[in-house]
Amino acid sequence: MSTSSPCLRDDTRSVGLLFAAANAACLRCIDGRRSVTGTACGDFVVAAMAHSWRVLLQGITSLVFLCAHADEYVRPPPSPLVLVPHDKPAAHPQQVHISIVGTNHMRISWVTDDRSAPSVVHYGTSRSNYTSSATGSHTTYRYFLYKSGAIHHATIGPLSPGTVYYYRCGDAGDEFTLRTPPSSLPIELVVIGDLGQTEWTASTLSHIAAADHDMLLLPGDLSYADTWQPLWDSFGRLVQPTASSRPWMVTEGNHEIETLPIVEFAPFVAYNARWRMPYEESGSASNLYYSFDVAGGEVHVVMLGSYVGFEEGSEQYVWLEKDLLARVDRRRTPWVVVLLHAPWYNTNQAHQGEGEKMRVAMERLLYEARVDVVFSGHVHAYERFTRIYDNEADSRGPMYITIGDGGNREGLASKFIKDHKSAHLSVFREASFGHGRLRIVNETSAVWTWHRNDDEHATVRDEVWLESLASPKPAMVTVVRRGDEL
Ligand SMILES: [Fe+2]
Repeated sequence: MSTSSPCLRDDTRSVGLLFAAANAACLRCIDGRRSVTGTACGDFVVAAMAHSWRVLLQGITSLVFLCAHADEYVRPPPSPLVLVPHDKPAAHPQQVHISIVGTNHMRISWVTDDRSAPSVVHYGTSRSNYTSSATGSHTTYRYFLYKSGAIHHATIGPLSPGTVYYYRCGDAGDEFTLRTPPSSLPIELVVIGDLGQTEWTASTLSHIAAADHDMLLLPGDLSYADTWQPLWDSFGRLVQPTASSRPWMVTEGNHEIETLPIVEFAPFVAYNARWRMPYEESGSASNLYYSFDVAGGEVHVVMLGSYVGFEEGSEQYVWLEKDLLARVDRRRTPWVVVLLHAPWYNTNQAHQGEGEKMRVAMERLLYEARVDVVFSGHVHAYERFTRIYDNEADSRGPMYITIGDGGNREGLASKFIKDHKSAHLSVFREASFGHGRLRIVNETSAVWTWHRNDDEHATVRDEVWLESLASPKPAMVTVVRRGDEL
């Protein structure tokens, strides 16, 4: 664990100043806006909730700070919610995000408060000059007393690879810009989990935006709305600048389940309506697990569901077996990347063992398919393991990386277990907010970097080179630079 940062020593004066600043920022977020949800009732609920959370977080973090030993490094506490209001006309598109569909199409998703607004996208390769259009459809959902706006999905294409397109949704509102992924390597994938919508989230998003990338992969826990549906809308507005310009490919975490006793039995209602992924194209019957190719088929990405059936014989298991063995030809696809929410390997005290049943059920499939990397979230810290199969270092197994450090309201998972049975497999671990980047350079080499938010710029804190497991030579892992070792 790093002890190098000078910030936030356990000092009563600095604690007081910190909370004063946090309180002021929180109140600015809530009180300085005209509207958050577009309705007075919705704004009242959100404001009350935010105030409640603020008080709760203050209490918890105060206790942590007061109990901390004087010379111990204390990690930054959770930061206040960042609520993004919508103060435009009801037909004005908001919460715009994009996701790839097949090899040359893009799904454009957005929300309008006006449920009669058209589900049309106009687009072209020149600013304000739209040469094509596509019409999709919209859906709505109810959740207890909440009724969503119209959630539109329209698929545009065929599109050229590596090309900038300008587009406008619903015959109204702003023009957006997107860039399609390249048709061959190299490709740069940002990976971030457990994002939430706090000031730390905003910090992560600003670090991501500071450097270019082709696509964002998110292994679950998006908005942390946790049944308060207006927070899904606010989250959509917060991520829009990034999510409207590069494809966001996501899978679900436990915070997407949102069941409530008596009033809401169906899981994933908001998530499935708002974050529709291209599952049909990979033969999946569920939005909760799917796969897709990028870089002209040189990279295969598999999104698994930690909270749907995964046992041998389950629909997801049968689909995964078919996907890895029948759809992936490693002579044509040198890189296979898997994302899921609850980590299979984890030395953090948080969520110990929660991914174990899924690991026991599915690890063999990934190992036999020579999957290169498995990313997970759930634990709010960064941890990188060596290549593993069945709790042993194995040069033919995937590298496991936990990247659940996006910045959500629950704060960091700061306690790692030093004598954990997997500790000898854990190469680097640190409880700081940040994001990762997998740059797949060519058919044999890729570089993974982890960037910590504590640093003003997107500094590389951990860096490792990987060799594709499809390579005929034994897989090599070269650590170029890393921070404090264990
Ligand atoms: Fe989670």
